[in-house]
Amino acid sequence: MRTHPPSRKVIAVLAAALLATGVAACGNSDTGGSGGDDGTITLGFSQVGAESGWRTANTTSIKEAATEAGIDLKFDDAQQKQENQIKAIRNFVQQKVDVIAFSPVVESGWDTVLKEARDAKIPVILTDRSVDSADKSLYKTFLGSDFVKEGRLAGEWLVEQKKAATGPVTIVELQGTTGSAPANDRKKGFAEAIAANPNLKIVASQSGDFTRAGGKQVMEQFLKANPKIDVLFAHNDDMGLGALEAITAAGKVPGKDITIITVDAVKDGMQALADGKFNFIAECSPLLGPQLMDLVEKVHNGEEVPARIETQETTFTQEQAKEALPNRKY
Ligand code: AHR
Repeated sequence: MRTHPPSRKVIAVLAAALLATGVAACGNSDTGGSGGDDGTITLGFSQVGAESGWRTANTTSIKEAATEAGIDLKFDDAQQKQENQIKAIRNFVQQKVDVIAFSPVVESGWDTVLKEARDAKIPVILTDRSVDSADKSLYKTFLGSDFVKEGRLAGEWLVEQKKAATGPVTIVELQGTTGSAPANDRKKGFAEAIAANPNLKIVASQSGDFTRAGGKQVMEQFLKANPKIDVLFAHNDDMGLGALEAITAAGKVPGKDITIITVDAVKDGMQALADGKFNFIAECSPLLGPQLMDLVEKVHNGEEVPARIETQETTFTQEQAKEALPNRKY
């Protein structure tokens, strides 16, 4: 029997039916997401960059935790630029990922893109850093450290160390990335704590962008402009490590001539502390991956999550660093 080729009309109907089935298989009406046939959750994650040892450890933690949880991670490195993060988030919306998470490089300027994600019904999780949006419905939760507390712990330690000082104690401050939550908050917490002793004075404060190179360069300027520097407060280990080079090159002994306080407690920072080059570190944990993946699963399933989840952290003196170093994971 002779078979007739299907008419154009039949082909069009079949194509439309196939397309409809495909769309249904990829779509997720609750979240606007693309969760695959097998139920795999797709997470779009926009990372700040690779500016510090902390950031590298954070990226590793997120990638490993996603693999462990069976989550399909679409990872984007924004190279410390807000416009790159906005572009990445828009791409995630277009790709219809199930959940978006990001660590905002700066605090402000996110409302428009976050509204786009909300309109597309894609839940957003903030991790590590927060945004200053008044509309809290733009994101489901914020997982990360209390940066004000970190600055305050650093300042309180210094107040205690210098309680016997009878004259001025001059402090220079290496700030993190301008406009970022950790830079704003650590500065605030530290300033509030040292206000307890009017002898403690910040004589210079400038951004080193959370990088070693930035810390070194700005510390060189501080040393040239200020003949007497008693204390350096660096908003992260990497800037403190960069500053060590400038201090040594200026013929001063770090940890002795200049008391050095930092934040993070990554391995290199802890080594400098154990070696007596740093004097105190307020910890900021980058190991957020497992908690983040847990939240991704929960918000994807429509479960309630707390609006704020604070990371548990501690502080380290030189002696405590020596003890903790052998087991330090990052
Ligand atoms: O947001 C956390 C901060 O970002 C870390 O303290 C710093 O090292 C990183 O670059």
